[in-house]
Amino acid sequence: MTLKKEIEFNNIVNDILKNKEFIALKYEIHHGISRLDHSLNVAKVTYQTCKKLKVKNYEEITRAALLHDFFKNDEVTNKAFLNHPAISLKNAQDNFNLTKKQANIIESHMFPFTSVMPNNVGSFIVTSADKFVALYECVKFKAPIKVGASFLFILNLCFIQR
Ligand SMILES: [Fe+2]
Ligand SMILES: [Fe+2]
Repeated sequence: MTLKKEIEFNNIVNDILKNKEFIALKYEIHHGISRLDHSLNVAKVTYQTCKKLKVKNYEEITRAALLHDFFKNDEVTNKAFLNHPAISLKNAQDNFNLTKKQANIIESHMFPFTSVMPNNVGSFIVTSADKFVALYECVKFKAPIKVGASFLFILNLCFIQR
């Protein structure tokens, strides 16, 4: 990322990164790294994708991308895979003012595993960015990837890119 973009990105997410509840995600393990770092990776890929595609509301989308996994492990049940988007949305709404689009971005980011469908371009960008980043992190940091989940990730990518 260029310095100019780095500065703009930091200005967009600055207040989120100062929030105590959110900072606590650095103690949660996610794909072999901290959930804070994973969220930042997804937000950066989202920001750069929005810029490339000239998406106008890139600030709104980038902020939602950063908040997409705003949950702690002890807040979810053993079905975290399915229920963490709803918990992340609640935590994000408790701490920040969200638009309807941002709410959908967070709620639908596990598409197609959850029943909430992406309903705007930001949601499609974030759910794709999350899968690319997750796969990259799992491989790079040797976090366990279930074969089935990997297969579904690939299917999902193919589906989204059509
Ligand atoms: Fe997630
Ligand atoms: Fe994620």
